[in-house]
Amino acid sequence: MTSPHERSHYESWDQQRGAEIIAEHSLQEGATLVILHALQEAFGHVPEPAIPMIAAALNLSRAEVYGVFTFYHDFRKKPAGRHVLKLCRAEACQAAGGDALAARAERKLGIAIGNTTADERVTFEPIYCLGLCATAPSAMLDGRLVGRLDEQRLDALVAEAQR
Ligand code: FES
Repeated sequence: MTSPHERSHYESWDQQRGAEIIAEHSLQEGATLVILHALQEAFGHVPEPAIPMIAAALNLSRAEVYGVFTFYHDFRKKPAGRHVLKLCRAEACQAAGGDALAARAERKLGIAIGNTTADERVTFEPIYCLGLCATAPSAMLDGRLVGRLDEQRLDALVAEAQR
C-alpha cells in the first residue's frame, strides 16, 4: 500500500517502458485491467499517453480503454501525494453521515475529493466499501483501515495525513 515515501519508488513516464509493460501483459485474460494496474504500479498513475497505446495493442478503441480506466476508482490520472486518504462513499457509510464528513475533509484539505493538495502531501479519494460498514463511516490512510469515524477522528486522520 501507499507509504509516505511512495512517490520516490515510481519511475517517471517513459514511452518505451510503457510499451514494454503493455506488451508484457497484452495476451493475458482481462488485459486492459491488468495493463492499467501494471502501469499504475510502475508510474504511480496511468499516464494519459498510455491510453491510445493500450488501445492499439489490444485492438480496442481509445473510448473502450478510457471507459475501463474511468470506471475503476483505483486508477489515478496523476501521481498520488505522499499520503493517500480514502473515505468510504458507499451507501452504508453515506447513510451513516459520510456526506458531512467528506465535506468536512474537503474543507480542511482545501480540495475536492478525487484530488491532491497543491503541496502534494495528501491525495483524497473516494473508496466504495472497505468491508467495515457500521454505524459510522470508514476510511483508510495509507492502507490502514479506520472505522467508526466521527468529526474528531476524521480531523485527527486529516491532520495525520497532512504531516
Ligand atoms: S459502506 Fe463503507 S465500509 Fe462498507
